[in-house]
Amino acid sequence: MDRIELVEVGPRDGLQNIKQYVPTETKIRLIRALAAAGFKRMEIGSFVSPKAIPQMRDMDEVVQGLGPLDGVTGMVLVPNSKGARRAASHGIMDLEMVISMTDGHNNSNVGRPTADSIADLDYLLNEVDPERKLTLRIGLATSFHCPFEGLTPERVVLGNIEKMLKIRPGLEFALSDTTGMALPVKVKSLAEQALAQFGSDATFIFHGHDTSGFGVANILAGMEAGLRSFDVSVAGLGGCPYAPGASGNIPSEDVVYLMDRMGIETGIDLEKLLEASDIAAAIPGALEASHVRKMPRETALGLARAA
Ligand code: COA
Ligand code: ZN
Repeated sequence: MDRIELVEVGPRDGLQNIKQYVPTETKIRLIRALAAAGFKRMEIGSFVSPKAIPQMRDMDEVVQGLGPLDGVTGMVLVPNSKGARRAASHGIMDLEMVISMTDGHNNSNVGRPTADSIADLDYLLNEVDPERKLTLRIGLATSFHCPFEGLTPERVVLGNIEKMLKIRPGLEFALSDTTGMALPVKVKSLAEQALAQFGSDATFIFHGHDTSGFGVANILAGMEAGLRSFDVSVAGLGGCPYAPGASGNIPSEDVVYLMDRMGIETGIDLEKLLEASDIAAAIPGALEASHVRKMPRETALGLARAA
């Protein structure tokens, strides 16, 4: 194996957790810098209720100001069909819907149990998108651990995947460690089972947080299981406002640095990524969790290039 896909989620999963409002121009500048670093797929924000996530209240302006991003797929998170319609009004057809694998977190996040979100997915796909124009990724939040219910049984996650694939085959699922409590062995085990049972009908990506410091190890475990796509977040921004105790996502620059040194292609230019990371880290209220940012920059770039 010599290539993996990294999906940048900082502009959504990262910024949503910052209390201070980030100006629209800064959001646009960050997304452009990340595109310049080489990301081909990015979560650029969410069309959610502005009462639920005030940070995303300028999403219409962000999308308008951004314009088309050449060769980059800009995904947006939507919590319901209203969000899907708002995205479609901008011509955005690459959507993500987060459905938690535990009722506790789903109730906290979107105010209803998991089964109701799956029913809404059915409605969204069959009523809002009968012509199958949408590309949808399902963020399987709390796939490993829930802040309200503890450890999540694997069979619950696999059972929900099966239900959703009956609604529409071909979905992408993000096995998500929302609280950052997953162990590498568990990431490997769930990814292996998901790929073995549903690998011919669906694609899978791992979305991790770094609360316990196992984020990068979890990515390596996912690779061992056969996953080839991973979410990362610039400067390690991130967290879920509805998952108490969750910290940032796995820092993009740490993963790119590691892959460069391991000789695994990501398509991302580490130097340009660190420039984007400077923009992210300068945002007031941003959590800075990256290890590579703490290294002398020339040392990090030199070691990465030497590989
Ligand atoms: N975009 C914009 N506004 C929306 C919206 C959307 N996608 N969905 C609902 N709203 C608005 C409604 O129009 C209504 O506005 P009003 O009070 O001015 O009439 C208000 O939000 C409440 O709508 P309701 O349907 O009663 O929703 P709710 O208050 O029960 O909230 C969600 C449910 C799902 C919309 C909300 O919890 C949400 O957006 N959650 C997203 C959470 C998130 O992004 N978490 C992080 C990702 S893991
Ligand atoms: Zn997340």
